[in-house]
Amino acid sequence: MHLSGKRIILGVTGSIAAYKSAPLCRLLKGEGADVQVITTRSAEDFVSPLTLSVLSGKPVLSEMISEDNTWNNHIDLGMWADLFLIAPLSAHTLSAFATGTCENLLQAVYLSARCPVFVAPAMDHDMYLHPATKQNLEVIKQRGQHIIGPAHGELASGLVGEGRMEEPEVILEKVISFFSANKPLAGKSIIVTAGPTQEAIDPVRFITNHSSGKMGIAIATSLVEMGAHVKLIAGPVQEKIPAGLIHIPVISADDMLQACIQHFPTADAAIMTAAVADYRPSTFSDKKVKKSEDDLQLPLSKTVDIAATLGKMKTKNQFLVGFALETNDEMVNAEKKLNSKNLDFIVLNSLNDKGAGFGTDTNKVTLIFKGNKNIDLPLMSKSKVASNIVESLVNLMHA
Ligand code: CTP
Repeated sequence: MHLSGKRIILGVTGSIAAYKSAPLCRLLKGEGADVQVITTRSAEDFVSPLTLSVLSGKPVLSEMISEDNTWNNHIDLGMWADLFLIAPLSAHTLSAFATGTCENLLQAVYLSARCPVFVAPAMDHDMYLHPATKQNLEVIKQRGQHIIGPAHGELASGLVGEGRMEEPEVILEKVISFFSANKPLAGKSIIVTAGPTQEAIDPVRFITNHSSGKMGIAIATSLVEMGAHVKLIAGPVQEKIPAGLIHIPVISADDMLQACIQHFPTADAAIMTAAVADYRPSTFSDKKVKKSEDDLQLPLSKTVDIAATLGKMKTKNQFLVGFALETNDEMVNAEKKLNSKNLDFIVLNSLNDKGAGFGTDTNKVTLIFKGNKNIDLPLMSKSKVASNIVESLVNLMHA
């Protein structure tokens, strides 16, 4: 979740686009934000405060003094928020913002907010084009406030033109990128492979392995939290895929190879956690293979090593991280893989360590870097292991 722990005041003003503040509120909550909605009186003609309070999980505030005589301290609200988002922003409230008018709670919070302010104007085309509106927008822009949209399209009046409030998804994206801008992997694009692959024998049977995809998903989640743009190329997994990344589902080793070859050239790094099948049935029978002799030989052919392929494609600005799951001669085998696949570091997973490997929620790994530098991590949750791996990658990328 991109907005975990972020406190956002969602200001809603009187515009027909106020109905879109409900899905916007839901999207912000879905990303983990703590949302406090403040409406103006006229906003409530377009969207019900009850809807917004159910979606935000908090009573909606509108007046300086509520009906039950509670004082809504605008100074506290202004200090509480990490971001103040007014969507939709009507021409009327825009004008109040530009002149510093303070006639309602929302305007008072605007004057007292110490946090960044984002506005998504919404009004009819001609109102938007009026020099007064342009001037008001310029005034708040000069103050460093962020203006989202408006978009071009059909307006409530039936006219077509500029003035529509940007779609909630676009507004959400702007808010997320604002918060990610200072994160260590902001602007970086990273591929993660995860899970098992399935190699078909016939339409009903396949060869696979025990990989759950948990480690790869934990790494992808940690990368997203660090602000990276993540593509998760995953074989068939039961685990829930987190929000905030691009999920590219694949089935076979060959599908995974093709997806990696396609996406690696534009990536800054790839972390290869997938348990890719090393062999696949040499032929695929399009009809179910029938039972006959007592013994059945199944000829297998080697699949392409995806990590090694990316190792060959890798440019000097790209980073490649691999995993090695070993049962014996762990260090020797892992170091061989580090070199033969041209990796920047490899994460050694020994199946001899209790709590490490497939299906568990914990893992115990050693990070092996080029030049004999190792980091031995104790047994810890897969999400902590993931954070350590991502931290090592960040250090390499920033070195
Ligand atoms: N890997 C890959 N493509 C393959 C096989 C492995 O990308 N066809 C990657 C894995 O995702 C992992 C690393 O290579 O990051 C090592 O995988 P592993 O299965 O431990 O090693 P293999 O090279 O397959 O060797 P072996 O199975 O003989 O140990």
